[in-house]
Order: sequence, then C-alpha cells, then structure tokens
Amino acid sequence: MTDKDLWIKADEIANNSYSPYSRFRVGAVLVTTKGIYVGTNVENRSFGLTICAERTAITQAITQGDLNWKALYLTCIDAEEPVPPCGACRQVISEFTKHDFPVFYKDGNNNIVETTIAELYPQDSLHNLHKHF
Ligand code: THU
Repeated sequence: MTDKDLWIKADEIANNSYSPYSRFRVGAVLVTTKGIYVGTNVENRSFGLTICAERTAITQAITQGDLNWKALYLTCIDAEEPVPPCGACRQVISEFTKHDFPVFYKDGNNNIVETTIAELYPQDSLHNLHKHF
C-alpha cells in the first residue's frame, strides 16, 4: 500500500468511530512487515473506559503475534490541526517499538506531521531497563 492508500484507509476507519460523547473521530493504521492493523476510538457512557484508535489497532497486532512494526498512521478527521497520540498511547506504543519508530498524524484537512516515538516520548521511563524491543 502506498502512503496515500494508508491515509485513505485511516480516514475510512475513522468513519467507524464510536464517539457520540466527544464527536471526535479517529482512525489508526499500524503498518507491519506482514500487513496492516486498523483501529478506531471506542467511547463509553462511563467516560473513563474510552479506548483510543491507536490502542485498538495495537492490540490487534499483538493478538496476531505480529511484532514487526514499520509505522503508525493516525488521522483525526474532525480536527482542524494534526493531533498526536495521547500520553497513554505514547506509553503503549513505546512498549513495542524502538526509538526511531515513525509516527505520522494528520487532521481533517490532510495536514500531516511526521515524527518518531522518540520525539513524542523522549524521556521514556524504564525503556532501557526492559529491553524487549
Ligand atoms: N483519541 C484517540 O483515539 N486517539 C488520539 O490520539 C487522541 C484521542 C480519542 C479518544 C476520544 O474518543 C476522542 O479521541 C476525544 O478525546
């Protein structure tokens, strides 16, 4: 899949968002050496139970035993500016990635930011102690 295809897929997935509380639809595509895993945000009337799009995609990759990740594409189609992963998602992404793992995120107008988990999460607690990746 090309970069453009991946963004189209992410936008499609964001349309499946269950976000009646925030009205903020998010789509994630996690690209691995085997293929892609997609996710959207899933909210709940008990607000604290919300699951972000990134973590929805990540848990699917792990469930399939696919740990060879190449990049994460994140789209917030209701946003006026690109929105990076939340703190909880940065911690979870960092669990499974090296510092140079690419994270791309965009808004509803296709303004794209290209960064890495190291930039998003520079002082990554315990990463050097628990070196699984
Ligand atoms: N959200 C995500 O899914 N990923 C992000 O990176 C930012 C926030 C969701 C959580 C919630 O459903 C909505 O966006 C508003 O915060």
